[in-house]
Amino acid sequence: MTPRKLRIAVLISGGGTNLQAMIDRAADGTLNAEIVAVLSDRPGAFGLQRAERAGIPAFCVDYASVAARAEGEFPADYRVVLEELDRKQNFLRIADSAKRLNRLGKLVLAEQELIRIIDSFHPDYICLAGFMRLVTPCFIGHYNRGKRRILNIHPALLPSFPGMHGYEDTFAYGCKWGGVTVHFVDEGEDTGPIIAQAVYPIWPDDDRDGIRARGLQLEYEIYSQVINWLAADEVAVNESPDGAVRVHVTDPGYPEILRGWVRKAMA
Ligand code: GRF
Repeated sequence: MTPRKLRIAVLISGGGTNLQAMIDRAADGTLNAEIVAVLSDRPGAFGLQRAERAGIPAFCVDYASVAARAEGEFPADYRVVLEELDRKQNFLRIADSAKRLNRLGKLVLAEQELIRIIDSFHPDYICLAGFMRLVTPCFIGHYNRGKRRILNIHPALLPSFPGMHGYEDTFAYGCKWGGVTVHFVDEGEDTGPIIAQAVYPIWPDDDRDGIRARGLQLEYEIYSQVINWLAADEVAVNESPDGAVRVHVTDPGYPEILRGWVRKAMA
């Protein structure tokens, strides 16, 4: 059976080389997905130009100007909603609760704009690809009704080195192997259930830029492969009553694909 093509929306903040890899693979038929929309939180993101060049609808929700417009106190009913979201979130660690709610409120306003645009394209999955914003329980709850629909690519072997600087942190720690991870997004920072990981060696004469270049090649491979597994319904998510979530890829070719990633990283 030929897998159905997924509809995906891709969220970016910058250069968008992961996006470009998806665009290229969608064009040559090796990605079982149609990129229905690309959205950025920054007006100058080069990835927006990549999308336009490929004829994909591209949008910017400028988080900075949404935040500037929302300066001040939020209405009381909105505060009640924010307090509820704040109880679920696990990434904003601002001790002052008024400040925390204010930050959360601005993020939610920007997300409502994102959601309005994304939903008009009816995607099956939302793929974060270098989107340098944390998403709130509002965004997650909107898309995870019934099943997990938000994916992220992280440039480290989670749970090591979450956050913004995966390659830098891996290198600075003196790791001998680095890795990249595709995971479902949850309410924490890079804490969601892991779908796939690939590793690469770090040689004594490597520098940070060298390992980033090596890791990015793997990012392009594994993100597309995960999307293809989802399209083929080969990603099983098991949630146990104690709350543990484990993801299994059911593709019989899984071990050979992993061997291929290792061979590629060692080449
Ligand atoms: C990638 O390393 C990705 O893992 C991380 O941000 C970077 C984005 O790169 N989240 P690009 O914009 O796809 O080139």
